[in-house]
Amino acid sequence: MAEADLYTAYKGLLLPTLVHPPQSLTRFETFTFRPEDVVIATYPKSGTTWMQEIVPLIMSGGDPASVETLHNWDRVPWLEEGRSCGLNLDDRPSPRMFTTHFPPRVMPPSFFEVKPKVIYVMRNPKDVFTSSFHYCAMASFLVDPGPQNEFLQKFLKGEVMFGSWFDHVKAWLNYDERIFYICYEEMVKDLKGSVARIALFLQKSLDDDVIGTIAERCVFENMKKNNMSNYSAVPKEIMDPAKSEFLRKGPPHCRTTQTPV
Ligand code: A3P
Repeated sequence: MAEADLYTAYKGLLLPTLVHPPQSLTRFETFTFRPEDVVIATYPKSGTTWMQEIVPLIMSGGDPASVETLHNWDRVPWLEEGRSCGLNLDDRPSPRMFTTHFPPRVMPPSFFEVKPKVIYVMRNPKDVFTSSFHYCAMASFLVDPGPQNEFLQKFLKGEVMFGSWFDHVKAWLNYDERIFYICYEEMVKDLKGSVARIALFLQKSLDDDVIGTIAERCVFENMKKNNMSNYSAVPKEIMDPAKSEFLRKGPPHCRTTQTPV
């Protein structure tokens, strides 16, 4: 399907309409934050799902139920998604956990008044591009990427969902309130150390062995087995794992087969 059929233009960004119907965007604009809220902010394909596993485990003191009872999109919902309209987020106890793919300029007024904690995950653009390419090919609600060189031109110009990677990263790097920056690559290199630093930012005092258990639970191979996080619950007509899995490739040491780069 063509871009006009699949995407909505919202404040200069292209958004997949199926996931972001008009009512979810209207609700987002008036959403009320609390100071205890934790917001995971990412450009798509930068390690969002990974952080949606790490943060609930940290906040629950390492309780596996925190990632085994709710799907990632319900446990750390995207504020701008249609699905979150049905979740009654106002009734959730603090500290609530949310996700957004939006840049700061699109965040609602309450975000700037209340200044919730933000964790911003960055990933190098080459891998974000490759991951996006495969994701667009497997998700029927996204515009087919076409040949890789054409998709690269669109990616570089920001003519893809949620706009330019460069603008997104620059804008969040300039946000100077309560924010913790971490790179996907740092998490690959030292997951336990990364979990420890995130816990410190979240003011959760955890024993070393709990941090180790959380990190172990969040390694690629283990997360891939968690049906609450691996997107296996999504109908094949919407996300087709035969074309590409959601947890597709992972860091180099996780690759057991020759996956196209
Ligand atoms: P690849 O497509 O390169 O494999 P997002 O959640 O923001 O959509 O990002 C998805 C990317 O994060 C995918 O990258 C996915 O495999 C990777 N990912 C998810 N969980 C991971 C983990 N535990 N360890 C390493 N990479 C992970």
